[in-house]
Amino acid sequence: MQLFRTVIDLQKFVRTAKKAGKTIGLVPTMGALHEGHASLIKAAAQENDLVIVSDFVNPTQFGPSEDFDAYPRRLAADEKVAEAAGADVLFAPAPSEMYPHKDMTWVEVTGNLTKVLCGRTRPIHFRGVATVCTKLFHLSQADRAYFGLKDAQQTEVLRRMVEDLFIPIQLRIMPIVRESDGLAKSSRNVYLSPKERSAAVILSRSLAHAKESFAAGERDPQKLVDQVTAEIRTEPLSQIDYVELYGLPGLTEVKAPISQRVLLAVAVKFGSTRLIDNVVLEVE
Ligand code: PAF
Repeated sequence: MQLFRTVIDLQKFVRTAKKAGKTIGLVPTMGALHEGHASLIKAAAQENDLVIVSDFVNPTQFGPSEDFDAYPRRLAADEKVAEAAGADVLFAPAPSEMYPHKDMTWVEVTGNLTKVLCGRTRPIHFRGVATVCTKLFHLSQADRAYFGLKDAQQTEVLRRMVEDLFIPIQLRIMPIVRESDGLAKSSRNVYLSPKERSAAVILSRSLAHAKESFAAGERDPQKLVDQVTAEIRTEPLSQIDYVELYGLPGLTEVKAPISQRVLLAVAVKFGSTRLIDNVVLEVE
C-alpha cells in the first residue's frame, strides 16, 4: 500500500490507473479506522481493481464548539488497518492540500435534507461533508464510493449531491457494523467512560425494540418515536438530542399509517460524547 500526502501524488496515481483501464473504489474516512471502515474497504476491494482510502479529519464539517481538535488521529494504526483490509492507497493530506485558498468554493445541498436530524444542531456540517466529498470524488475519479449506513443522513445528502451535480460515481451504502453488545462502531466511542460505554447500549437496544414493534404491525410514526424516546430516557446518563422518523429516500415527512421505507434515527449525548444510530424499517 502506498501513502500519499499530496494532491499531486494522488492525481499521478489516478492518471496511471485510469490509463490502464483500472476501476477505482474510494472509501472516504476521517481516520481512526475501526472494523466498520475495514468492512467498507473490503467491499471496495471486492468490487474494484484498486482501492483508495482517504484519511482526513475535515475541518469544514466541524462547528466551532465541536470536537475537531480532540478528534482521534492515528495515521500509523490506520495504515495497518487499511492495508490489511485491501487498500492500495492511503491518502492523508494536510488541510492546506484540500483547502488551498482562504476564499473557497462550497458545495451545499439545501432544503430539509440538511436541516432535519443532525442538521438542526450542526448547521454547517453537511456543507463541509458535501464539499470535501466533491473534492475526493474528483481527485480519485472513483467508479464507486463506499459509506456506512450509520451516517444515514450523510448518505441521503450525498445521493442528492451526486444526482444534482451529475457526478459519475456509484454510491455503495453498507450496513452498520456493531460491537457484540449492539453499539454501532464509531471513532467517537473512544471518548466514552466505562459507565457511558455501558449506558450507550440503550441506543441499539431501543431501536431493535422499535423494529420488533414495527414487525408486529405498529404503523404509527409517533408511537415508534415515543417508544424509543421512553426507553432511552430510562438510562440516566443519556441526554437525547433527537429521536425522529423520516421517509426514505429523501428524508420526507411521514404520516400514519407508515406505508413506505422509513428511517428511525437517534442522536444522544453521553457526557460530552454525541452518538448517532438508526434503523431502516421496510414495509413488505
Ligand atoms: O463519514 C465520515 O467519516 C466523513 O463525514 C466523510 C464522509 C469522510 C467526509 O469527511
